[in-house]
Amino acid sequence: MELTFANLKPDCVQRKLTGKAIEFIEEHGFEIVRMRKTYLTRKQAEEFYAAHKGKPFFERLLEMMTSGPCIPMVLRKENAIEDFRKIIGNTDPTQAEEGTLRQLYGTNVTYNIVHGSDCEESVLREMTFFFPFIEVIH
Ligand code: RTP
Ligand code: MG
Repeated sequence: MELTFANLKPDCVQRKLTGKAIEFIEEHGFEIVRMRKTYLTRKQAEEFYAAHKGKPFFERLLEMMTSGPCIPMVLRKENAIEDFRKIIGNTDPTQAEEGTLRQLYGTNVTYNIVHGSDCEESVLREMTFFFPFIEVIH
């Protein structure tokens, strides 16, 4: 079993798609191990997305991520990291594969409703960022 980190972004929460997104995630075989609802400050969003600093979309990304509450979660499944990236689809919802979360509910490349970690190293960093108190996950 593998863990991955996901985040329902503010556009997902604001558009009341939380239930649909969670249902989709569970129906695709993921177990929700941890979940919370929180807000990111601008400083926290800058830190979380530090890898994108300097890119042309960075400002739009920060604006989107600080526009309302988000719902970070730790998910568990076999091959969770790769499989979650598959079920959310391409970053740009207009390019996303049919039946993926972003294709179904995303608006555009900025407002694409969900984040998924892209590798083991990101999972560790991102999970610890939102869930700093977990030592052991059962
Ligand atoms: P994520 O990190 O959210 O799971 O998405 P991703 O790996 O598919 O995409 P990434 O390249 O890591 O970008 C992070 C988020 O930044 C926004 N973005 N906007 N061209 C653009 O305007 C652009 N490119 C990326 C999106 O919100 C993307 O999810
Ligand atoms: Mg990414």
